[in-house]
Order: sequence, then C-alpha cells, then structure tokens
Amino acid sequence: MKAPIQDATAQDATSLPIGAIDVSDASLYQQDTWRPFFARLRADDPVHWCENELFGGFWSVTRFEDIAAVDGNHAAFSSEPAITIGDYGDDLPVRQFIAMDPPLHDIQRAAVQGVVAPRNLSDLESLIRERVGRILDELPVGETFNWVEHVSINLTTQMLATIFDFPFEDRHKLPYWSDMATSLPEATGSDGDVDERTAALQECLAYFTQLWHERKNNPPDTMDLISLLATNPRTQNMVDDPLEYLGNLILLIVGGNDTTRNSITGGVLALNQNPAEFAKLKANPALIPSMVSEIIRWQTPLMHMRRIANHDVELGGKTIRKGDKVVMWYLSGNHDETAIENPDAFIIDRKNPRYHLSFGFGIHRCMGNRLGEMQLRILWEEILQRFSHVEVVSEPERVLSNFVRGYSRLDVRLHPAG
Ligand code: HEM
Repeated sequence: MKAPIQDATAQDATSLPIGAIDVSDASLYQQDTWRPFFARLRADDPVHWCENELFGGFWSVTRFEDIAAVDGNHAAFSSEPAITIGDYGDDLPVRQFIAMDPPLHDIQRAAVQGVVAPRNLSDLESLIRERVGRILDELPVGETFNWVEHVSINLTTQMLATIFDFPFEDRHKLPYWSDMATSLPEATGSDGDVDERTAALQECLAYFTQLWHERKNNPPDTMDLISLLATNPRTQNMVDDPLEYLGNLILLIVGGNDTTRNSITGGVLALNQNPAEFAKLKANPALIPSMVSEIIRWQTPLMHMRRIANHDVELGGKTIRKGDKVVMWYLSGNHDETAIENPDAFIIDRKNPRYHLSFGFGIHRCMGNRLGEMQLRILWEEILQRFSHVEVVSEPERVLSNFVRGYSRLDVRLHPAG
C-alpha cells in the first residue's frame, strides 16, 4: 500500500517516485505543503494518473493551458454527476446545475443569473458598504481576535442573507449549512460527520421549501434567488424535486460563502506576508481592484473541479479514456510559470490581474465572480479608511479539504488609522 502523502511532505517532493504523488490528500492543504508536489507534476507529469483508495483512479491536470482546454470543452468533459474528486455519496444524492451539462445546466443557470446582473450589483453596492462599515466599526481595536469569525464569516453570511432575502435573525444557519455541504469525507477528503451533514441539509431543505411557497405567489420587491427560481417558468417546479432544489441551494450557498470568506482572510494574510505590497497599496489605494484579483488568484479558494471524459481524448501526451475522472487543479494552474510571470509571488499591480483560473473557464465559469470581487473591493476600501494595519499575530489554521482552500482561524490585531 502507498504511504500517505502527509508522511512524505517532509521529504523532497522531487525525489518521490512520480506514481507516489497523490494531490487528493487533504492534509497537503491543511499543512500548506502542496507547492513542491504540484511543481513536480507540472514539470515531469503534467497530466498525471493516480489511484486512490477513497476516490478511485483519477487524472490530475496541472498546467494552466491544459486546465483551460478541459474546462472549455464541455462536450468532451462532462460535469455530471459531481464536480469534486469524490462523488457526493448516497445519503443525499443532490443534483445541481454546476454538476449538469447542457441543456439543463444552461436553463437553470439562466434562471438565477439575474441576481448578479450589473444593475442588481450596483443596487447591492451601497447595502454591502453599509454592512461592511458596521462590521468593521464594531471590531475590538487593539485586541487580538479571530478575523475569520468576526469579519470573513460575518460579512459573507450577511451577503448571502441579502441575495436569498433570508430571514436576517436566522442568517447564522447559512454558513453552518454551507460547511456541512462541503464536509463529506468521500467527496473532499474532509473529516465531516455524515449523519450530522444529512440532518443539517434536510433542515436546510425544509427551511427553503417554506420560503419557496411563501414567495411563489407573493414575490417580494427585491430580487432574490428563491423568488427568481420560483417564478421563472423554466424552474417553477424545481421545489417538487427536493434533491434538485437542495442541490441548487447548496450550490448557491457554498458558491457565495466559502469562496469569498476565504478570499477575505487570504487577503489579510497575503498582505502581512508581503509588507512591500501593503506599502504599495497604502500609497495608492486605486490598486484595490487589481489587488482583489491577485488575492483571488493567490488564494484559489476552490482548488479543483472535476470532469468525466465523454470519449477518449488526448491531453498533454496522455490518452484519457471514456469514463475517466479528470481533476483540474486550479491551484496548480494559478502557479504555472509558463502562464503567469513569477506566480508564487503576491503582486498587487500585475499587468493582467484577472488572468487566473480561480473562477474557472467555459460554460461553468463562476456566476458570482463580479459579486465576489465587489465584496472584496468594498471591504478593502473600508478597511483602509479605518485602519493603518490589520496585523496577523499568529500562524493561520487551515481547513482539511482538497476542495475548499480555507482558514478556520487567523488571529489579528487592528491598528487604527492616523
Ligand atoms: C472569490 C469568490 C469566488 C470564487 C473563487 C468562485 C469560484 C468558482 C468556481 C471555480 C466555479 C466553477 C467554475 C468552472 O467549473 O469552470 C464557480 C461556479 C459557480 N459560482 Fe463561484 N466563486 C466565487 C464567488 C461566487 C459567488 C459570490 C457566488 C454567488 C452567487 C457564486 C456562485 C457560483 C455558481 C452559481 C457557480 C456555478 C456556475 C455554473 O455551473 O454555471 N460564486 N465558482
């Protein structure tokens, strides 16, 4: 049996036999030791086959261009039935449009896309700014506190409650459901409890089913995701298919939650590790939009998406057989030196900052990318108004997952502006 890779992280990744490299091991991301493994794969075996007991055999695609080629070719590479390395398990076999091919994917995506249309985003901007301001004003300046909990989770939870028009007093349920949704061991290598997850997601479904029925015939004035789904002729019966409704809810909750949350935390960490970039930012706050893109690249909050080959395909000199699992490692593509100059560095004024893979590519490209960027832009605009420094005072704690690249804890101390 192959040794678990966490035992190998102390070794030089370049000396391992190539067949021993298994980048699905979630501990690589919890311990932040993934870099040399992907560097080795990009150099020596960019399209890499691996057998894994938990997930079965899968291909790892690690170079930027190959990832874009797979993501951009939905005819050859199917997103069904799941987009994580492992399948979702039998406890709740949900269906969601991120894990569907056309035509169903296109119909369901079109039904909810309005919520992130430019006009709606500009309507949301002032509300987001007000909520960001309130959260920042309540922080304990000068004391040590966990940024993840007080800012990243708090802010993204408020945003989610806004786009769902979710009862504000119950909004804490949203990140809980999101965490439960992505905590399935066989899907993402995490250490979640399956029974707790099933119970949480059933609660989520029951709550949102009630909201659906309340809104179906009486949609509120605001544009929210549930009313959009309930009133669109092409999705108005989705509630009658609970596993499809739940799947799409999970997609929208996770999509708007873990990703932005971990970019908020990642940005603080990146600027602390790169004080010269922070100085650049303070000297020129007009760099915020390009810094936001760099944070999203640097963090890569969703590390992979997976596909299944619809037919035999040649990729990077390998033959991928019909039915094979293909995992696109965005995290690796974002560190590919043949596509991005000096990719391991955090540089807030890159020439082409949106040139990264963190939002994917092709028909599944992130629907909420402008919303995520807007939240981060507003947050940094408001941070710079109030604080001269968000100082990281201890090492971050990272989550155990091969899918979500995230943090459970980042202790910081705030220094007031002026
Ligand atoms: C920094 C923030 C975000 C990152 C890094 C991110 C990342 C991603 C990625 C990698 C994909 C899959 C792309 C592919 O397969 O090619 C995706 C899809 C998606 N994201 Fe995001 N996301 C972010 C924010 C959001 C937000 C705020 C929403 C809220 C509406 C959202 C909703 C979605 C949806 C609905 C999809 C499925 C699109 C489809 O299948 O057509 N995302 N996102």
